[in-house]
Amino acid sequence: MKILAIDTSCDETSAAVVNDRRILSNVISSQVRFHKKYGGVVPFLAQRLHKERIDAVVELALQRAGCGMSDIDALAVTYGPGLAPALQVGIETARTLALSHTLPLYPINHMAGHIASCFAQTGSRVPADLELPALAVLVSGKHSDLVYFERFGEFTILGQTLDDAIGEAYDKIARMLGLGYPGGRIVAKLAEEGDPTRFALPIPMQNSGDLNLSYSGLKNAARLVIEAAREAAGGELDRQTICDICAIFEEVAQKSLLLKVESALRQRPEVRTVLLGGGVAANVALRRRLRSLARQYDVQLVVPANLKLCTDNAAMIGVAASMAIEEGAKPVEPGSVDRVPGLAL
Ligand code: KG4
Ligand code: ZN
Repeated sequence: MKILAIDTSCDETSAAVVNDRRILSNVISSQVRFHKKYGGVVPFLAQRLHKERIDAVVELALQRAGCGMSDIDALAVTYGPGLAPALQVGIETARTLALSHTLPLYPINHMAGHIASCFAQTGSRVPADLELPALAVLVSGKHSDLVYFERFGEFTILGQTLDDAIGEAYDKIARMLGLGYPGGRIVAKLAEEGDPTRFALPIPMQNSGDLNLSYSGLKNAARLVIEAAREAAGGELDRQTICDICAIFEEVAQKSLLLKVESALRQRPEVRTVLLGGGVAANVALRRRLRSLARQYDVQLVVPANLKLCTDNAAMIGVAASMAIEEGAKPVEPGSVDRVPGLAL
């Protein structure tokens, strides 16, 4: 079944064509350079840019998949969570296409998409035997969720962040250090050259007794370390000091997450697979730490097949729709689809 999928939940305008779980095209037009000067995503600017780009992005997705609208069997669109004005553009586009081509329309939860990204098939790559139940670790600029499921679509949130998401914490540290936006990738790169023992930061939520996370305290503790280091340096920080701060931040942010993943695996010994999804899933050190934990607990670790599938993209929405249809999901009346910015799993 060929599905044309659209995601405009944040600052990427994306359209993709999938055939069941196989990705035929995945076009992503990033708005990052427009939001950069504001240090974050501006919702109405995002909406305007989505409107300017969505038709061309859909066209390109069809072209790269080697098909026209007449080859498409269904449409899928993200209806939440995300920024309301941004979500609206994708929904309106999908609704118009569904009505004008009389196609079934499936509204999809963006976070289910991040889970589905691990099931996507690209080129000759088919994910290794994916045994359920699974524990999905969803780490992005807005989410840090631990999600348990036996069947795709029947998700139980075991833990989530009480305040900032892990990706958001990376972005904020980057901003404090003057490294630009979005900073996750830059902090990760500099951390590789840093010494994590030079500064100290506390591991958040270590003794919280639940599977929740919290990153705002770590962000504030890091701010104090940065201020003290600036004072000691009498002004600007040298490169090595920046690398050292990035290294301890990354170590502590990830250790906190890893402790909760480990507790979840202890609480749910039936879990066979750990899935990693979301923008922070691109982080090499996190993958290494999770792989070693998975080995220790004799579970399989599955990560998205490529980096495009980690950050926001429409192919994961198409794969989520295919999986939902396999589980019996029914299409909805196009006119009834509405954005739900705070949609939970
Ligand atoms: O999933 P995503 O594209 O958008 C959201 O739904 O938030 O994730 C973006 C987040 C940003 O916070 C970005 O800084 C972070 O993912 N990120 C990383 C890395 N690459 C992207 N964080 C840590 N290490 C990376 N390599
Ligand atoms: Zn996302």
